[in-house]
Amino acid sequence: MTTTTAAQAAYVVASLLFILSLAGLSQHRTSRSGVVWGIAGMVIALAATIGLASRSITATGLVLIAVATAVGAGIGLWRARVVEMTGMPELIAVMHSFVGLAAALVGWNGYLDVDAELTGSLLRIHHAEVFLGVFIGAVTFTGSVVAYLKLAARIKSRPLMLPGRHALNLGALAAFAVLTVAFVARPHMGLLIAVTVLALALGAHLVASIGGGDMPVVVSMLNSYSGWAAAASGFLLANNLLIVTGALVGSSGAYLSYIMCKAMNRSFLSVIAGGFGGRPVTSGDDRDHGEHQEISAEDTAELLRDASSVIITPGYGMAVAQAQYPVAELARGLRDRGIEVRFGIHPVAGRLPGHMNVLLAEANVPYDIVLDMDEINDDFAATSVVLVIGANDTVNPAATDDPASPIAGMPVLHVWEAAHVVVFKRSMAVGYAGVQNPLFFRENSRMLFGDAKQRVEDILRSLDATDAPAVAMVGTAN
Ligand code: TAP
Repeated sequence: MTTTTAAQAAYVVASLLFILSLAGLSQHRTSRSGVVWGIAGMVIALAATIGLASRSITATGLVLIAVATAVGAGIGLWRARVVEMTGMPELIAVMHSFVGLAAALVGWNGYLDVDAELTGSLLRIHHAEVFLGVFIGAVTFTGSVVAYLKLAARIKSRPLMLPGRHALNLGALAAFAVLTVAFVARPHMGLLIAVTVLALALGAHLVASIGGGDMPVVVSMLNSYSGWAAAASGFLLANNLLIVTGALVGSSGAYLSYIMCKAMNRSFLSVIAGGFGGRPVTSGDDRDHGEHQEISAEDTAELLRDASSVIITPGYGMAVAQAQYPVAELARGLRDRGIEVRFGIHPVAGRLPGHMNVLLAEANVPYDIVLDMDEINDDFAATSVVLVIGANDTVNPAATDDPASPIAGMPVLHVWEAAHVVVFKRSMAVGYAGVQNPLFFRENSRMLFGDAKQRVEDILRSLDATDAPAVAMVGTAN
């Protein structure tokens, strides 16, 4: 078997492993094996690509590739090990920016180093690929950098509302089409510089003009763009695996964005066009919602002891507090007392798709009591106590009650329908979308202030303390 045939066979195996990986990652139960399939596919892909390249690369070139791979893998391993779960979205945004930058550089390289055998229409196709690769790569690069800055709170998450922003975006797309035709007809470095600058500005503007509450869709959209950027590089490098992998990432990212848009009741087209979620904040922060009422951990334990059913709705604050372990222990303890306990997960709770599911799985919460918003939303009315642990926007009734709210129309968990709601947070501060939450002022809501982990541990202690005398009495009776 020649090196090329062996490499192509390895590429087919790697592609299949990537498909298996995506299938595995689509469910919590199989997600770990999904990661393993993905790693195996990537190892095979790298080995085959280096094997293929070794035919035309000098020994020094191979050493350089080995060093670059080792350094890249080392940095990747180190960052992945030290990153906090709350820092994952930023890490992902940075990784997307690398894919975009790589695609733009591959595009530039394709222009500077043209295969002498390419002539006529093949050369024109090559130049169209160069232009497309640079454009998608540069849009992905700056879009991801701005997303990183917003997610890391280095810049304000408030949308940039330039006058005529949709016209600007459409104008940039029209300019790209005109420049492409000109470049394919007469390739010129000035045109390539122009499209690079245009795409860098467009990527930054598309993401800058998106409001904070709608960032989840942007993250998955950038994931999709990075896939298409990789596929464009695949065409330039004539690498089938890169084309297949890029298309897999691009299409699965686009589908994830579509699912998230549905979950947030947003229009998919307006996300691609940029500038959605940019409704000005007209509701909320200074309005008088009345007085909130507080509750202690001991009284919350009392409420729980008397409950027949409990739903826990975690949010970003549970991740910040790393409260998943005591929360899981609380769920176990209540179930041992015969109380029905379930978790209600909003599709954009936290800062990543599936963020809460990952944390709860890490703390060994059984999958069958972790339910999606649609599965549990009708059950709140028949629930004794809801524990809102570090969630805010995802349980905000303004989304359903206030058409002027910036999050109006976004489906939320109907926690307020339960008999009692206890909200765990540190202050009366707003959530990610920057909107005040009328839930905190409802008659049946109580605020349990403090770090979520410490408060849940206080409740556990309180439950144990009241159990202890009962155990002692049983001991005495015996
Ligand atoms: P958020 O609206 O972000 O609210 C989190 C709450 O947790 C805050 O109100 C905060 O209040 C509280 N908190 C923070 N640290 C805490 C701690 N140590 N202990 C107790 N409470 C703590 O949460 P959410 O309901 O999960 O909503 C997610 C938001 O993020 C949505 O707007 C969503 O669109 C956006 N978003 C989601 C994603 C994805 S894909 N999931 C990606 C980007 C953005 P205090 O400061 O008062 O404690």
